[in-house]
Amino acid sequence: MAKLLTNIGCLVGVDEAGSGFKKGVQMRQLNQIEHAWLLIDGPYIAGFGPMQSLPATAASTEVVDVKGGWVFPAFCDPHTHLVFAASREGEFLDKLQGLTYEQIAARGGGILNSAARLQQMDEQELFEQSAWRLEQAAQQGIGAIEIKSGYGLTLADELKMLRVVRKLKAHSPVLVKATCLGLHAIPLEYKNNKAGYVKLVIDRLIPQVAIEGLADFVDVFCETNYFSVADMLAVMEAGEKHGLRAKLHVNQFNALGGVAAAAAHGALSVDHLEVMEEADFEALQASNTIPTVLPGCSFYLRIPYAPAREMIDRGLGVAIASDFNPGSSPSMNPELNLSLACIQQRLLPEEAVNAATINAAAAMDSLSEVGSIAIKKRANLAITRAMPSLAYLPYAFGERKVMRTMLNGAFI
Ligand code: NIG
Ligand code: FE
Repeated sequence: MAKLLTNIGCLVGVDEAGSGFKKGVQMRQLNQIEHAWLLIDGPYIAGFGPMQSLPATAASTEVVDVKGGWVFPAFCDPHTHLVFAASREGEFLDKLQGLTYEQIAARGGGILNSAARLQQMDEQELFEQSAWRLEQAAQQGIGAIEIKSGYGLTLADELKMLRVVRKLKAHSPVLVKATCLGLHAIPLEYKNNKAGYVKLVIDRLIPQVAIEGLADFVDVFCETNYFSVADMLAVMEAGEKHGLRAKLHVNQFNALGGVAAAAAHGALSVDHLEVMEEADFEALQASNTIPTVLPGCSFYLRIPYAPAREMIDRGLGVAIASDFNPGSSPSMNPELNLSLACIQQRLLPEEAVNAATINAAAAMDSLSEVGSIAIKKRANLAITRAMPSLAYLPYAFGERKVMRTMLNGAFI
């Protein structure tokens, strides 16, 4: 059945030309129609315009007066670790008492802590917990999300995580993409044999994932004490054999040359980027790899924010993601991430909204389906209460402005 949204205070992210991904100064362009209507046919956007040109509709069309609320394309979150077995607030207390993320990991906390808990949990319980979190994401206005493995760290448990993601894809109205992050940390059993674990992931995990169609992307945590640029390139090559592009964790704590290597080999995105050197900027400027910044992680770990302002000023197209996970970013709140991107990374509101919608859709290869208000895209919408201006959205940090979410044409 068709739905007509009327009295929209402002329809944001209108994309008549289907122009897609925005770079540099284009990120300031965010097309808006004040006092608008939006027509939805089944799961898709079917039309929009100003209220003066409100079309006559069939009697069967359901008319929904949104009473001045603003309508945005639902947020896209192109980097999360939403499937996990347990929260880690014990480490939070350690952190408050002065330990760093690296010190906590060295004591057996961190990713290995999450892996130990996940290995003990059966698939059904993991699915139920994760489905609840995904429901929370949708309620906060998220309409598309990427979810990684990486807390399994054995063949069986990595596959278990990815099967949970597959069930989430089938079960949820949120558009879900799956990423195989086998190389997230060195498992204890391979403490003195990192090469053996890399071999397991390349020779057995990635081929099995491909056979079962369990992932859309591959990822590696390229970092001191985790995996090298050579390990990352080996995974990229293995992924490529199976048609899986790479989205990579690089430059969180150290610049190891991963950005240039990833960009040269056609990675879809490079994520984190808290530490950026001149060569990293130049490599991105010479490529189509999307820099994806994770302000929630910087906020929570108290580490530097990725220099997103400089990236945009140098002509790059930036995406924002939550990095939602129990160890370095225990929140997926998209409104808070928009505020952090503006307040801490000095993005303009238009740039931040583009980074969290159209560019975030590009960073999960979902541009044709989501990320803007365009005919035939999914009717995935985040609807706020009435707001005085666009700037109000990031300005009123911590206040909930998104009141309703529509996914595939249905309110959730
Ligand atoms: O993106 N940096 C590596 N991986 C995650 C953190 C995972 C964890 O601490 O559990 C991240 O921040
Ligand atoms: Fe991450």
